Parts: sequence; structure tokens; C-alpha cells
Amino acid sequence: MSEYDFDRIIERRGTGCEKWDMMEAIFGAKDLVPLWVADMDFASPPEVVRALLRRVEHGVYGYTGYSDGYFNAVTGWMRRRHGWDVRREWIVPCPGVVPGLNLLVRAFTRPGDRVIVQQPVYHPFMLAAENNGRRVLNSGLRLEGGRYVMDLDDLRKKARSRRVKMLILCSPHNPVGRLWTRDELAETGSICVENGIIVVSDEIHSDLVLGGRRHVPFASLSEELAACSVVCTAPSKTFNLAGLQTANLIIPDAKLRREYSVAQEECGFFSANAFGTVALEAAYTYGEPWLEALLKYIEENLRFLSEFITRKIPRITLIEPEATYLAWLDFRGLGMDSRALKDFLRHSAGVALGEGHIFGGGGEGFARVNLACPRKILEEGLGRLANAVDGL
Ligand SMILES: Cc1ncc(COP(=O)(O)O)c(C=O)c1O
Repeated sequence: MSEYDFDRIIERRGTGCEKWDMMEAIFGAKDLVPLWVADMDFASPPEVVRALLRRVEHGVYGYTGYSDGYFNAVTGWMRRRHGWDVRREWIVPCPGVVPGLNLLVRAFTRPGDRVIVQQPVYHPFMLAAENNGRRVLNSGLRLEGGRYVMDLDDLRKKARSRRVKMLILCSPHNPVGRLWTRDELAETGSICVENGIIVVSDEIHSDLVLGGRRHVPFASLSEELAACSVVCTAPSKTFNLAGLQTANLIIPDAKLRREYSVAQEECGFFSANAFGTVALEAAYTYGEPWLEALLKYIEENLRFLSEFITRKIPRITLIEPEATYLAWLDFRGLGMDSRALKDFLRHSAGVALGEGHIFGGGGEGFARVNLACPRKILEEGLGRLANAVDGL
């Protein structure tokens, strides 16, 4: 038994949280079981809550900066969890990975340039390019024998275009759950180096690796790749701190770092979130036992999901995730188009899932389930899904 109680259901309604409080407005249906947006229904580690309480009780919440303790916590975490020696000066804090992606696009590409993404993928990647007047070029993943792989031949072809300036890599990959191998990353890197493409490696899910696997930080592969890449990290997925808006971009190359910092300053991002910094420091310093227990719970939820689907909804296929608390489900066996599947999930089943079409090409006919919730909630959602499929 874990000393942490991940089975405890904490009422989140009334806290202004997106997952529960905004669901009806977003999905247009009442009383859905929320298994969608990528945050957790668990409380953060007790050490984090205690550190925040102490900070709250202080009572003064003025402008805040990033302390030695903050940077040491980040470098210590990267060394212990990922075997990567990050130098303090490489770390550029920013108010979230998504704001960081937008600023990186502005810093390293020009309007009209192409940004490669590998769909189906976390949709703010596309928005970061499009909302800034850049164009998305999709080098889609391929589903081979129940596992997604990169299409490296396609990537090589597309990377040759002179308009392509950036690849946004999702590592590990949301929504398909792949943990990219050293070889896949190295080959992707060599294609980008050959063509002068900057790699933005979004590694926000990298602490959530399942089955004892190891994540490889992109910029740790070689000095050559460190010189043309940015690694995006945050404690927000790992410790459920997304509402505190504190992330770090790791930019080993001094010139890229200067260029990025200018883009960030131009938007007026200077100071830190007084609570985010405290939470990050406590989480990265004391949070490992909690994280190990969390990963076990998520693995058990994954096993529960897998067995449930095999026994009760065999028309749906699970794409087994290697990392993240997200599971990608193939609903194509139900023979519905995107609109019909959306209606079926929302109105017949009564579940809110990450609907596949939002992740771009290759997402139609799929949906993403969030496993970071007490098992009872997952069970309720899956039960509803099974009944709805039986009723078809
Ligand atoms: C791949 C990926 N990047 C970034 C984010 C969000 O990052 P942030 O909350 O720091 O903006 C998410 C959240 O789901 C994500 O899945």
C-alpha cells in the first residue's frame, strides 16, 4: 500500500478548474465523466502543499525572482531523474511551456516560414505556428502493428524545403504515448542538423515514464544537437501544478538563448510566479517518493483500462502508452466519422475525452483518455462507454 491515497476523490468543482467547471461550456453536455484535459485529479505531494501554505501565510506576495535554490532544484532534478548535467545558465524560466512554444516560434522563425509537427499531436503546437503567421507542415506518425513510429523518410524529404525553420517534437508524445528511442531521436536530430532546422523538444511529460523505461533528453544526445535545440520542461504535469504557471526552457547554446530571451523580454515576461517557484523547488527537492507512487498508480489504472477494454469493449483498441498518463484509444471499429464519434462520446456515453480530431491528421476515429484520476472515476467513465457501445 502506498502512503499516498490516490483513490481519494477530491471535489474539484467550484475551484474554477477547467476539467470539471468548464466542461459543460466546452462539451455542450451536462454531467459527463471528465477524462479529458491533461491535469490530474490528485493533490500535489504533501511537501509541496506544506511549502505553499508557509508561503501563503507569509502574506506578502510582491514581485518575485528566481533564487539559487530554484535553479539548483532544476539542475538536481535533471541530473537525478534524467542523467543530464544541465548548467544553470542554460535554464530560462518562463510562464508555461505553451507560452514558451509561441515565443520560440517568434524568436527563431519569420512569418511564412514552415514549422514541422508530427500529427496526431498536442494541438497548441499547430496554434503556436499558425497564430504567429507561420505555416504548419505535418510529417505524420505511422501506426505500425499497434505502435506509432516516426516517418523518418517523410521527415527527411520535408526538411529539405528552405522554408522549414523549426521542428516541434513531442517527447514523450502526447497523445500517442510513445517514448522515443535514442536512435529515433538521433536520426531526427541528424536530419535537422543537415538542414539547419531548430528542434524544440517539448519534454513536459518526460517524468511520467511507465514500466521502468528511461527518457532521453534531446539536447543530451550530443553537443551538435545541444547547439540547435531547446528542451521544454516543467513540474506542471509531473506534480499537478499547471495552475501555477512555472516552466523552464533549457537552451544550451548561448546565441539561441540570447535570441530567445529578447523575444521573451519583448513580451514583458520578467518576474516569477511567487507560488510557482516555491512549488517547483519543493517538488523537485522532495517529490520523488510521491512520483514513484504516482507512477505505480497510473500503471495500475492502465492495466485496469486494458483489461476492461479487452473484456467489455473489444471493438475499441488501446494503443499501449510507454509514457504519460494519457491513453490513446482507437474507436475506428465503431465505424463512425468524427462528428458521429463526438456525439456518441458526449451524448450517448456521457464521457468527456480528448477527441482525436483536435490533434490534427490521423486523429480522426481516436480519442484520448486521461488515467490520472481515482480508479472509481475511471471505472465510471469506462462503464458508461461499455453500456453505450453495447447499445449501438
Ligand atoms: C505536450 C504538452 N506541452 C505543453 C503542455 C502545457 O504546458 P503549459 O501548461 O506549461 O503551458 C501540455 C499540456 O497538456 C502538453 O501535453
